[in-house]
Amino acid sequence: MYKIAVIPGDGVGPEVVAEGLKVLSAVALRANFKYEIVEYDFGGERYLKTGEVLPDSVLEELKGIDTIYLGAVGHPEVQTGILEKGLLLKLRFGLDQYINLRPVKLYPGVESPLKDKGPEDIDFVVVRENTEGLYLGVGGFTKKGTPDEVAVQEMINTRKGVERCIRYAFELTKRRKKRMRLTLCDKANVLTYAHDLWRRTFKEVGEEYPQIEKDYALVDAVCMWMVKNPEYFDVIVTCNMFGDIITDLGAIIQGGMGIAAGANINPKGVSMFEPIHGSAPKYTGKNVINPLAAIAAVQMMLEVLGEEKGAQSIERAIIKTLTSGKIKDLSAGKMGLSTKEAGDLVASFV
Ligand code: IPM
Ligand code: MN
Repeated sequence: MYKIAVIPGDGVGPEVVAEGLKVLSAVALRANFKYEIVEYDFGGERYLKTGEVLPDSVLEELKGIDTIYLGAVGHPEVQTGILEKGLLLKLRFGLDQYINLRPVKLYPGVESPLKDKGPEDIDFVVVRENTEGLYLGVGGFTKKGTPDEVAVQEMINTRKGVERCIRYAFELTKRRKKRMRLTLCDKANVLTYAHDLWRRTFKEVGEEYPQIEKDYALVDAVCMWMVKNPEYFDVIVTCNMFGDIITDLGAIIQGGMGIAAGANINPKGVSMFEPIHGSAPKYTGKNVINPLAAIAAVQMMLEVLGEEKGAQSIERAIIKTLTSGKIKDLSAGKMGLSTKEAGDLVASFV
């Protein structure tokens, strides 16, 4: 019996989460597992009403559940940063979800904006460090609001944090058994302290994995190659900030925000799964948003929970949906199906 915390969040979050849960309930019957949902109403609305984002007591409570399913955060009336830091990042940091895993996989039936690239060319995974780097919020202002203002935001890299992330990426590359290549994406030519630590750690940990090719690439070049030769990549490991940026690029080459999902993983603790897209306020309540990314997040949840059969069944159902000819376009409003119909379709193929 899995205990799943569900945080539908803001905007279209609740709509896509409802479809993800629909598919989950279909797959649980087929794959024979049971679960229980605990719903939390955190997000912009609650913050505007109560001033509360994510109380520490709830964070503690969440340590006792099995997994978290998150819709989207971001509200047009809430100052930018409050929900992102107070909810999403607080969960990632507080639960020590040190891996942000983002598969970039082009499914059949999906058009990539990359000319002449098909599903055989676009199939790699980005392992993004998820608890350090520029995201930690270390820094401050002096002389704020004056012409002499200084703003500092520190990029925190710890040996432990970097090492566990790199080790996870090597293990994943080994498990995937694809090209057996791990690319370290950094900016070691300029960030000669921070990314020197990454390179040294990568080299040292890499010695334990003689069967894996160690590849080094600068982040700007990675952006270029992701567009020019995405087939080159197998697994990419990178810091928090660069991972954030290159995974949006990854999402667009796999067909866009309608399909891209991500996992925030603590391999020994509580992990959290989410579509990469945001709360998309302008589509809220219109029943036009594509739920496939949120459904793909459920697939990742089952993978991490060890429900392999269920995860595979969702992936097959997503592929059947995409090749059924019934979804015209992955973008919101252009699917040719409503959000609910798209969810029904996937659930029918589970
Ligand atoms: C993501 C998002 C978040 C991030 C934002 C909402 C804080 O862009 O999950 O990639 O930057 O990590
Ligand atoms: Mn992002």
